[in-house]
Amino acid sequence: MADTLSITDNRTGKVYEVPIKDDTIRATDLRKIKVTDDDFGLMTYDPAFMNTAACRSAITFIDGDKGILEYRGYPIEQLAEHSTYLETAYLLLYGELPTQSELDTWTFHITHHTILHENIKNLMDGFRYNAHPMGMLISTVAALSTFYPDAKEIGNPEARRKQIYRLIAKVITIAGFGYRHITGMPFAYPDNDLSYAGNFLNMMFKMTEVRYKPNPALEHALDVLFILHADHEQNCSTSAMRSIGSSHVDPYSALAGAAAALYGPLHGGANEEVIKMLTEIGSIQNIPAFIKRVQDGEVKLMGFGHRVYKNYDPRAKIIKRVADEVFEVTGKNPLLKIALELERIALSDDYFVKRKLYPNVDFYSGLIYQAMKFPMDMFPVLFAIGRTSGWLAQWQEMLLDTDQKISRPRQIYSGAARRDYVNLAERP
Ligand code: CMC
Repeated sequence: MADTLSITDNRTGKVYEVPIKDDTIRATDLRKIKVTDDDFGLMTYDPAFMNTAACRSAITFIDGDKGILEYRGYPIEQLAEHSTYLETAYLLLYGELPTQSELDTWTFHITHHTILHENIKNLMDGFRYNAHPMGMLISTVAALSTFYPDAKEIGNPEARRKQIYRLIAKVITIAGFGYRHITGMPFAYPDNDLSYAGNFLNMMFKMTEVRYKPNPALEHALDVLFILHADHEQNCSTSAMRSIGSSHVDPYSALAGAAAALYGPLHGGANEEVIKMLTEIGSIQNIPAFIKRVQDGEVKLMGFGHRVYKNYDPRAKIIKRVADEVFEVTGKNPLLKIALELERIALSDDYFVKRKLYPNVDFYSGLIYQAMKFPMDMFPVLFAIGRTSGWLAQWQEMLLDTDQKISRPRQIYSGAARRDYVNLAERP
């Protein structure tokens, strides 16, 4: 059996052979299919990249029908149970789990890059008192590029390594500072004796105590949430990271663009929308009426559905377990009852069953964040913290991939044909 595709162009009667590799044909192989010699050649039309692989990647594997998610071959369930966020970040970036000494060095470097230049603090002080922390994160990450001119050296592995340390480290400090800014509290500086998640909690919630001691259960839960959000192959924000990075701009500018993509309510902003939706539903009695509005196409059930998962999102399963651990410390989030009932009804409802709509990662994560006293505005920021390692791993993979070039989709032009300019006075 030949690994080729035979295509007959019925316009010309010509037959073409196109190689198949990894169940994929190269779109550029279709360009030889022409009616006349000066034809551009055949293209594919694929809005939103529903069926187009834009890269080869060895980082994350998803089987959406089976509900499988693996980082570098390791099932997400095992990483959530046994790994830490920093170890997982190392795995995503370097492809293998670290040895003890590799992990120690990696942790040391991340920990010792958490401090921000004082001018960044001044810059963040300039935001309006009620600025959205995600807007602050996006702008501040972009501003970091002006502090590190060596970030432009994207072909230099040492310079890349340095920016990777800085970005993973500083994203928690920026997030913490953003929160302190909107709450009018003095910025809390990093404490190098704490874990990554513990340090972030310190920069969020430290009050007048000399040393902040994170609650171990909450610190662990947050760390697991960072692992679950660390990568998710070619999603909207990761595609943005790769696409912007393909122009060879510095990683701060590319990551700011990725974070901007994540900010949208259809992507990382969905967990915020879930809480708003649950609050609006208000009580279990109102669920059937809400489901009816979803069926009528009036509203979406936020936190449900996924482009890739047509089964239960494996991250949502783990998050439900983490939620129980968190609620033991914080007390139950009163919205949980509504969420559980909404899930129960949706999963047995024809509308959702037919469309294979299941809870995704955002359905329960907001409930945990809210119980941990994160304001809703911080939810997408929490997503961005975890995803930073994935964005960087994908960015580096893209840079080292000799198949890649500057990202530049084609279009089918549907505008006016050539016409001559008409002076203003002569226009009808
Ligand atoms: N509520 C109601 N109907 C839905 C929903 C939903 N949440 N999601 C999809 N549908 C319907 C959709 O209307 C369509 O119905 P029909 O065939 O009758 O037109 C069908 O299901 C297929 O949906 P689609 O819009 O073609 O699916 P998509 O792959 O383009 O969209 C999605 C994926 C995640 C944007 C979408 O499911 C959605 O908007 N969900 C709510 C927002 C959300 O929870 N986002 C977080 C995603 S997970 C975290 C992340 O990766 O960012």
